[in-house]
Amino acid sequence: MADADGNKRARDYGLDIPVVQDSFFVKGMNNTDWGMKNRLSRIFNPKSGNTVMLAFDHGYIVGCTSGLERIDLSIAPLADYADVLMGTRGAIRAAIPPTSNKAVCLRATHDASVLFDDMASGSGLGVDMEDALRMNASALAVQCFVGSQKGERDSLEVLCRACDAGYRYGVPVMGVTAVGKEMARTTQYFLLATRLLAELGASIIKTYYCDDFEKVVAGCPVPIVIAGGKKLPENEALTMAYQAIQSGARGVDMGRNIFQSEHPIAMCQAVAKVVHEKFTDKEAYEFYLNEINK
Ligand code: 5RP
Repeated sequence: MADADGNKRARDYGLDIPVVQDSFFVKGMNNTDWGMKNRLSRIFNPKSGNTVMLAFDHGYIVGCTSGLERIDLSIAPLADYADVLMGTRGAIRAAIPPTSNKAVCLRATHDASVLFDDMASGSGLGVDMEDALRMNASALAVQCFVGSQKGERDSLEVLCRACDAGYRYGVPVMGVTAVGKEMARTTQYFLLATRLLAELGASIIKTYYCDDFEKVVAGCPVPIVIAGGKKLPENEALTMAYQAIQSGARGVDMGRNIFQSEHPIAMCQAVAKVVHEKFTDKEAYEFYLNEINK
């Protein structure tokens, strides 16, 4: 049995050898069904292979937060500039016009609220597949606490059951590597967590950018998108996105660094330039400055 003792550290990631994608452009998804491929093609742009997901699911943990006080006013106008809207069914139904016609990545777990000092202290499936299909979701997002005494078992159980339903109905599941109290943000941790979620059936992984990110990408058999994290100055957020894409990430699932920007539309467009149009971070920041000075 594989265990920690005698587990030789991975070395040869074949970084110079591309993964064969003979019948479908999304990594690791060659052998999935038509419906799954169709939904993945709504998430990842078939031309660039990449995606800009706009994350605004924060309220399910922190309640009303800066930039998300009125989702109808802050997020709905941004929808045109992203590829995917990542939020809860409550927020999407209430505040996003169905005519926006963007792919939806539905936050499908409930987790401990901000009132608990460890967000890994309790999670479960927050949406059933019937309602996800009713919302025309293109993917489900499941938060996973790999390495947490309190949260690992429950959250991985939720992931596995969501993947079962996802494969039954052709809906990809995005495994989110949440970092709770006990989890260090190290390359070793992200190598472990991303691979583990993919092995359990996730078709997309959301994780944090870290050192040696190309190894994290290479060791994960399905596409990785990076989380934005806390609000950074716009140029730094664009640099993080650029470095992630250079290392093989297939996009971003970014929230605060877009909707908390003073100029969210320009920021979302600048991120898309990096993700889809091969802009460098500097070019994208120039684009951002030009947009806000128009
Ligand atoms: C945490 C999440 C978030 O709720 C959210 O999507 C994060 O977005 P950002 O960090 O870019 O504001 O998925 O894992």
